[in-house]
Amino acid sequence: MIELGVNIDHVATLREARKGAAPDTILAAKICEMAGAHQITVHLRQDRRHIQDHDVAHLKDVLQVRLNLEMAAVDEIIAIAHHILPETVCIVPEHREEVTTEGGLDVAGQVNRLKDVVAGMHAHGIKVSLFIDPENVQVDASAAAGADYVELHTGAYANATGAAMDKELERLRVSSSRVLQTGMRLHAGHGLTRHNLEPVARIPGLHEVNIGHDIMARALFIGLENAVKEILEVLRRAD
Ligand code: PXP
Repeated sequence: MIELGVNIDHVATLREARKGAAPDTILAAKICEMAGAHQITVHLRQDRRHIQDHDVAHLKDVLQVRLNLEMAAVDEIIAIAHHILPETVCIVPEHREEVTTEGGLDVAGQVNRLKDVVAGMHAHGIKVSLFIDPENVQVDASAAAGADYVELHTGAYANATGAAMDKELERLRVSSSRVLQTGMRLHAGHGLTRHNLEPVARIPGLHEVNIGHDIMARALFIGLENAVKEILEVLRRAD
């Protein structure tokens, strides 16, 4: 079955709205874990708008499933990753004004820099995923940088409708087979929901999806445990 990483950033978004202690990110992560999630994903942004350093450290201590740290390839956050030692990191682009991660990382434009970042993570026993748009040039550059996995950005697919959605799905399929040819593991994420997930989950060779906003939005109405279970059910159906 495809593995599910639950991104809990928006639990912290709600907490940071009041700068208090609630809702508890650790409790949220444990509920996701008990509901069957295979991994907890958090994005430690440079602006610390949601997840804070203490969240990452605490999660690493208490989780039984993997901790996946999304991060920009900047020295400050790299040093934190080397210190906290999440099982995996996913390198993403980061722009201060953006509402969320808007596009994939331009790996092709910085292969040598990313090679060093990947090697540094490997030296600390951390596996590396690169978050890229579904383009062959980025897939090939990710392999050249030594990445273990790529996470294909599904945002364009998620935002499209009708024939445009089919076209985006085809782009994801074409890139996916390129990823598998290189020997890297295939992940996908961004904008996925219980309504649009199934066609992505049927892409041959997909190993993992990371989903955040839709699960947290749904959790408001049916609870976090049920929201995670709904997504797991879609993944099971697609298996
Ligand atoms: N994967 C990556 C690399 C991301 O940056 C994000 C957003 O933080 C997600 C997955 C989750 O996206 P969403 O919240 O739209 O499900």
